Amino acid sequence: RMSAEEYVPEGADLDELREAVQRCRGCPLYRDATQAVFGAGAAGARILVVGEQPGDVEDRRGEPFVGPAGKLLDRAFDAAGLDRGLMYVTNAVKHFKYRASAPGKRRIHQTPDQREITACRPWLVEEFRQLRPAQVVALGATAGKALLGPSFRVTQQRGVPLAVPEEFPAAPGAVLVATIHPSAVLRADDRDAAFDGLVRDLETLRSPAA
Ligand code: URA
Ligand code: SF4
Repeated sequence: RMSAEEYVPEGADLDELREAVQRCRGCPLYRDATQAVFGAGAAGARILVVGEQPGDVEDRRGEPFVGPAGKLLDRAFDAAGLDRGLMYVTNAVKHFKYRASAPGKRRIHQTPDQREITACRPWLVEEFRQLRPAQVVALGATAGKALLGPSFRVTQQRGVPLAVPEEFPAAPGAVLVATIHPSAVLRADDRDAAFDGLVRDLETLRSPAA
């Protein structure tokens, strides 16, 4: 079974993990990516936001959510009254999975499969261990599957406070909210409606007792 496990150093802090992930060979995705993209944000962040995997821009820059989806996510956090400074943002899978449309041409995103999600999960568990978040956001199906298991369905589970599964170290009583991925907003026929739905789901974080 593929796993990042043996590449995760014991007792490492976030900076040491960010360095170690560059040497991960836990699944084949490291081969074609430029670099691994670890999470970013304040070490004291109380909200942990989990996306899918780095996109084309993130793969080149080495930082999560700095491309088009990240810009939209920033707008959504803003509209929901949430301060991005309070967040730590990461991805379920740390290397960019893509196929080339033609030699030297644009790189086309491919959704990571369950084996890759499972292989990469030890890095995500360590990010939880370092942050012990009080609130967790799962953006889209891949993040939902990484956190809640393969039967997760975003259409059925979005926007309602859920418990954080035990294998992810979190603050006592921590709440998880799943919503759509910002890329799904960019692809939607009715972008305004999709954006409003994303914002509504994020707004539930403002009243964790709801
Ligand atoms: N999409 C993601 O899920 N994560 C990123 O970092 C960028 C785009
Ligand atoms: Fe390791 Fe995750 Fe990259 Fe696979 S995607 S090589 S498990 S860091």
